[in-house]
Amino acid sequence: MDGSGGGHVHLPPKPEARNGRASAWSYYHLFKRDILSALPARLYRAWMAEMRTPFFRSYLCNDRELVDLVLKDRPRDFPKSERIRVGLKPLLGEAIFISNGALWEHQRRVIDPAFAGGRLRTVFPAMWDSGMAAVGRLKPLADGRPVEIEEHSSHATMDVIFRAMFSVPIDSEIAQAAFNAFRAHQTAQPVANLAAVLPLPKWMPRYHSKQTRRTASAIRGLVAQLVDDRARAIAAGRAPDDIATKIMTTPDPETGRVFERGEMIDQIAVFFLAGHETTAAALAWALFLLARYPEWQDRLAAEAQAEIDPDKIYFSTMSRLKTSRAVFREAMRLYPPVPMFVREAARDEEFRGRRVRRGSQVVLSPWHLHRHERLWDRPDEFDPSRFETPNGKACLRSAYIPFSAGARVCPGSAFAMIEGPLILSLLVRAFRFDEVPGREPVPVAHLTLRGRDGIHLAIRPR
Ligand code: HEM
Repeated sequence: MDGSGGGHVHLPPKPEARNGRASAWSYYHLFKRDILSALPARLYRAWMAEMRTPFFRSYLCNDRELVDLVLKDRPRDFPKSERIRVGLKPLLGEAIFISNGALWEHQRRVIDPAFAGGRLRTVFPAMWDSGMAAVGRLKPLADGRPVEIEEHSSHATMDVIFRAMFSVPIDSEIAQAAFNAFRAHQTAQPVANLAAVLPLPKWMPRYHSKQTRRTASAIRGLVAQLVDDRARAIAAGRAPDDIATKIMTTPDPETGRVFERGEMIDQIAVFFLAGHETTAAALAWALFLLARYPEWQDRLAAEAQAEIDPDKIYFSTMSRLKTSRAVFREAMRLYPPVPMFVREAARDEEFRGRRVRRGSQVVLSPWHLHRHERLWDRPDEFDPSRFETPNGKACLRSAYIPFSAGARVCPGSAFAMIEGPLILSLLVRAFRFDEVPGREPVPVAHLTLRGRDGIHLAIRPR
């Protein structure tokens, strides 16, 4: 593949976008196959694009003022899309992530303290232990044969979230069962975001296949068991000081109410999903990018070998893993784990001189914003050092939203920015990752951004 700017740069994979128009129903089929290549190429240059279906309209916004308006300035006028709620409800119930209004505000007041700055230090050893366990699991596979890496990054991040929330490593029976159920659910659940652009009427039953319902209820059953065990431990005064205890015992500072059992099950389900899928996707893409650009991998390995003492766990090490952080950040620019998210206009609006009717779907697309040709220098190139350039710095502030922004910004962003670079450094410190010829991953938007047939890399000891 030819790079931009005359040089020969081997660009990271990007699905070929569609040129020209498509009818609403051919969109349906295109989208079902692959939303990223079904969308038109002009979205990498446009400030806004309107998509019409017979039932509603969607507006994809790349204009930074519009992105700020929706996410930061008037979030209450752009609640989470009802269409997306329908898709995720079997798994997430009324949990944060899909809730709106007063319920969401209550949930956020209880959850935020569990992720406050100081608590990251407390969960850091859990992240470290999970990273070391991942290194241990890869050791027997590190003989140069192709390994599907998403599976391993998911295992690692699931382990982190289990340990951080419940002080239990994933090897325990219950954690392993939940991990398997989530994997089955991911395969059974089509892209939730499709609901916002598919030309289907709202009443049409979607996404709740038998398989989806079955895996969702299996996960919820396991979560219920964890919550009940923990409630007993809290009552007996022997609960560990982890995120689950914190969330289950923190009263809403405004109403004094703590989460009830059902609410707690919803919230835990959301943390498992939001807290591991995303970081796992980012890690897998980061490892792929390091395999493709070995000079960056060598730099990262050298940093990890110089800064990490495998026998001692220091939170302060994190501030020195600068290359790792830059690589992780750049990986999320090119492959944002949540490639799109959707809001709904609660009232009539005007966007860039166009009338946007109440009920319209407003699509924010990190995938397009992060590769916007009028914002970023060399948007499709992998260059972790770009964030030190004036263009990179400016775009980081205004055109980089892997964690969203504003009131509904991801509460786990600081957690993920420790977890991701730490695990990346521990893995690259131990192993060399190489591409597998003929197996370039194709990005597709599932619940998170994944490789169509996984991401395959060859691993060898370093
Ligand atoms: C690289 C890792 C991660 C990425 C890229 C990411 C991205 C996001 C994004 C984009 C949203 C907003 C979605 C929307 O507005 O529709 C979000 C929300 C959320 N994330 Fe994350 N996330 C990550 C890791 C985590 C972790 C580690 C946790 C918890 C431990 C977490 C918990 C949540 C929760 C609870 C919400 C819902 C917040 C709300 O609705 O107010 N995330 N995340």
